Amino acid sequence: MCGIVGYIGSKKVYPILIKGLKRLEYRGYDSAGVAMISDSGDLNVYKAKGKVDNLTEYCNDKDVSGCVGIAHTRWATHGEPSARNAHPHYSSTHNLAIIHNGIIENYADIKTQLQAKGVEFKSDTDTEVLVQLMEYIMVKKNLALLEAVQVALHQVIGAYAIAIIDKRDPRQIIAARKQSPLVVGIGTDEFFLGSDASPIIDYTDKVVYLEDGNIAVIRLGEELKVISILGEEQELKVKTVDINLGQIEKGGYEHFMLKEIFEQPECLMNCMRGRINVEGNHVTLSAMIDYRQQLLGAKRIVIVACGTSWHAGLIGKQLFENLCRIPCEVEYASEFRYRNPVVTKDDVVIAISQSGETADTLAAIQLAKEQGAFIFGICNAIGSSIPRATDTGTYIHVGPEIGVASTKAFTGQVTVLSMLALCLAAERKTISEDLYGQMVKELTQIPDKMEQALKTNEQIEHLAPIFTYAKNCLYLGRGYNFPLALEGALKLKEISYIHAEGYPAAEMKHGPIALIDSEMPVFVIATRDRLYEKVISNIQEVRARGGRVTALVTEGDTQIQKFADHIITLPDTLECFQPLIASIPLQLLAYHIAVCKGKDVDRPRNLAKSVTVE
Ligand code: F6R
Repeated sequence: MCGIVGYIGSKKVYPILIKGLKRLEYRGYDSAGVAMISDSGDLNVYKAKGKVDNLTEYCNDKDVSGCVGIAHTRWATHGEPSARNAHPHYSSTHNLAIIHNGIIENYADIKTQLQAKGVEFKSDTDTEVLVQLMEYIMVKKNLALLEAVQVALHQVIGAYAIAIIDKRDPRQIIAARKQSPLVVGIGTDEFFLGSDASPIIDYTDKVVYLEDGNIAVIRLGEELKVISILGEEQELKVKTVDINLGQIEKGGYEHFMLKEIFEQPECLMNCMRGRINVEGNHVTLSAMIDYRQQLLGAKRIVIVACGTSWHAGLIGKQLFENLCRIPCEVEYASEFRYRNPVVTKDDVVIAISQSGETADTLAAIQLAKEQGAFIFGICNAIGSSIPRATDTGTYIHVGPEIGVASTKAFTGQVTVLSMLALCLAAERKTISEDLYGQMVKELTQIPDKMEQALKTNEQIEHLAPIFTYAKNCLYLGRGYNFPLALEGALKLKEISYIHAEGYPAAEMKHGPIALIDSEMPVFVIATRDRLYEKVISNIQEVRARGGRVTALVTEGDTQIQKFADHIITLPDTLECFQPLIASIPLQLLAYHIAVCKGKDVDRPRNLAKSVTVE
């Protein structure tokens, strides 16, 4: 959702805030703002609608002096995207300024109470309610800022990561978190704040990930202090971050998304490193060693996730059922958490999340935990909330994903699911040793085969303009390729704004076939596997209705070109790993179509990289 940056020290704060905001722009970009205590002691707040560049343009002729400040890039929840609703928000006296990521659920009640006491509001946001409440408490009860923050946070229901500055005390930033991420960077006589570590790593690798319900008291000249809302001092857990700058810069590519698509072979090697042995015939996950009993004891696996991670989960289901013979259900976390699902202590619940911060997935974990299930996390963002909420898990280790549309995280998730299924299948002896060895070997070949698949880039770039006219597209696949059809359609929707649906190829004739005409591009994943002949029949059904077919086929295929308008040829692999290869051309298709349409590929409208609100 929104991105938070902060700094206090002896450096000029404005460039640090702006650089940090640009790093975090993937989290939200409908407006941005900064608040800084100037050299002359004023609290200056500047805000602009749109991206961070609009903010810097707005600030061109403003006083941006000072060495303490906070900044925010917004993804609107309460109140339309506008400069008025952008953060930071002042308190009535303009003594305080606040930034906030999350949602205050009882803001309307608090607002009404404050309005009844004469407090006037300038925005439609839930965030302004927080800062007004804090100021009201400070004045009414004659409390210092820290105490007022504690009292105010007791009264609010919801999720937050916040940072507040007070112009009367320019040596302090108060920050707090509940269910939204917040990281404090510790430098020499200076401190940094970020929603993740990316705005901090240029300056220090020492960070503290704030825990839920904790407040950071950041004072110049003093040690960082972390307390609970009740005021109890907490142990300071300083971690060293291990992200290099190259990982979060574009490295010569036009967009992060294209860079991240091309990085996938290397990312998957990193994902498998240390888990698959050098001979390439055995896979071990540390979670499998530490929690063998709990994982092998699973009578059922329940996967909870959202969006692309949910699609990876659908592939996981087939892996667990086919290879391990463990029943598996895949649930949208947002539905699971509000149903009354049957969960038992014999269940292993796998939570999949790139960001590790998705609010619905976190809530689903909480619910499953309360009912006694063992929780396994599959995440990318190190130190994020989900890995901390789970019993154990496996990081996908694909490096920071900046493009809003998920690419390398998806293939990383499928790779971890494949490794986990192979570990379980070997231990449960549900596949033969031969097949196990063959599958592990094949998994190690996937990065090379992905390199080959990436060679389709030029062909796809040439094909893309043909599809820019389309209003609707259909993606078809069967078996392991059905979730990939869903994922291909989601990628296209997200970044090109073309409506697209993914369907199991045979299901098409039960409804969507009515939509098919010569205006409707149909993308079919028709790689050689058990269902190949059946998919050919499905392609013919489309062709018979004048549909225009682009088929993803396995090298050496001679049949499908007779029925398809375009074919994209991919290297052969085992059926269960086909989605890892075939995801490449689908990602490239979405990317090039969106570029042809002139869309903002890395930051599509209305989306955010990390969905920390439900
Ligand atoms: C799509 C995409 C989203 C996320 C979803 C869950 O490209 O990225 O659908 O997959 O918002 O996010 P995570 O994986 O961070 O829980």
